Amino acid sequence: MEDRVIIFDTTLRDGEQSPGCSMNVDQKIQMAKQLERLGVDVIEAGFPIASEGDFESVKRIARTMKKCSVAGLSRTTKKDIDCAWDALKYAKKPRIHTFVATSDIHMKHKLRKTRSEVLEMAVECVRYAKSLTKDVEFSAEDAVRSDLDFLCKVIEAVIDAGAVVVNIPDTVGYSIPEEFGSMILSIKKNVSNIDRAVISVHCHNDLGLGVANSIAAIQNGARQVECTVNGIGERAGNASLEEIVMTIHTRKDLIPLKTNVNTKELYRSSQLLSNLTGMYVQRNKAIVGANAFAHEAGIHQDGMLKHAQTYEIMTPQSVGFPQSMLVLGKHSGRHALAKRYAELGYKLSKEELNTVYNIFTRLADKKKDIYDADLIAIVQDEVSHIAETFIFEGIQVLSGSKLTPTATVRLRKGDKCIEESSIGDGPVDATCRAIDKITKVKARLTSYSIKGVTTGKDAMGEVIVQVEFNKTNFIGRAASTDVVEASAKAYLNAVNRVLNNQKTK
Ligand code: KIV
Ligand code: ZN
Repeated sequence: MEDRVIIFDTTLRDGEQSPGCSMNVDQKIQMAKQLERLGVDVIEAGFPIASEGDFESVKRIARTMKKCSVAGLSRTTKKDIDCAWDALKYAKKPRIHTFVATSDIHMKHKLRKTRSEVLEMAVECVRYAKSLTKDVEFSAEDAVRSDLDFLCKVIEAVIDAGAVVVNIPDTVGYSIPEEFGSMILSIKKNVSNIDRAVISVHCHNDLGLGVANSIAAIQNGARQVECTVNGIGERAGNASLEEIVMTIHTRKDLIPLKTNVNTKELYRSSQLLSNLTGMYVQRNKAIVGANAFAHEAGIHQDGMLKHAQTYEIMTPQSVGFPQSMLVLGKHSGRHALAKRYAELGYKLSKEELNTVYNIFTRLADKKKDIYDADLIAIVQDEVSHIAETFIFEGIQVLSGSKLTPTATVRLRKGDKCIEESSIGDGPVDATCRAIDKITKVKARLTSYSIKGVTTGKDAMGEVIVQVEFNKTNFIGRAASTDVVEASAKAYLNAVNRVLNNQKTK
């Protein structure tokens, strides 16, 4: 049997459809490029018939990806499949992913169809999809709660109709590892033509067992897992990509399989997604959480100093986790900075390095210790930023328990500097109002969060905001040692995205 597990990433489809995780087309392209760098095999880019935005994203991702297969989801109707194919047809490796529910509860109450009608729809649509492309995946939605004999019958029929991947989702996150593993084994034993298809699994995390169930499935013969970065997805999410990959990687002794993933890109992928969506990663999240490699208890620290493996089953470097030690200081030169960025995986052009170096020296004046996490925050702010209509020049804020908060903001648009002041309910509110006066964009601030990039009183604060404009959400982020400045920059970042979006339209 194949000794490699295919990683099917559905961050941009199942992940993106969950509340608070929506991304616009440009953000999806940025994430898709990172997923390709990460080394996933398949990117599910969206559900083309669901909306114009989804169609456009799938189409652009299909055109952009060089190595990955690009999948588009469709129900089992000709219209859905045609739409998916229209978006996918320019991909180097297109995959049509078609699905229908096979559990009695879904067929009766949602689809209002009999078993034989569902079987017929599945076969007809797989055959039709196969007439368009050779790479066709079929998913039996709610497979876990389906009658096993019926499920096996459907799987056998869709393989005969041309499906090369058959996906067994635990749509409602109901299964437990032993049960799910033996289900995969039964499918392997009872579906006569199963050797002509790859068995895939897609586990939701309602009981917190998404990763455990996926691993049990792999141990019983599944060779594709569907998962998402940071485990985002419907309700409690999907199985987390980084946890599945690192489980396979770390427990080679029990799971003698490999993936194509470059594990050193895991942390960066997680951070990028979090920055694009504004959905923070919980501090104690396995593999990519801020505390994942932090050893707090004295006895642990002592053990670590004597021999790292006493308390560390994998190294932070293996997942690209920024090291928590001091890496650079006030007197570090441009060359050292470029070298450290290269070690962190960022290749900066000369101009980018100049910009980043200026910010770095200003930061080093304010902040004694500079950590990798600070360097990443700087580069994400300054290099991967979007085209800016308005550039932040400065801010002055008056605030206090007995004063009306007042902010004066200075922005630049082309050669012109514009300054405005405003009062507000608090310093951040006053700042946003002053920015609104200058930009004349009437966006509504719908979410605001702040966290320290590193620890210590002088840590940079990272602010992520979400604004709503014309029923579309835009994220903005920025970091600074001054939290009001970070708030101003994050809000302006979101407003510039609104303006960009209007220009693109
Ligand atoms: O959870 C699920 O069943 C799905 C399918 C469409 C694969 O997302
Ligand atoms: Zn799902």
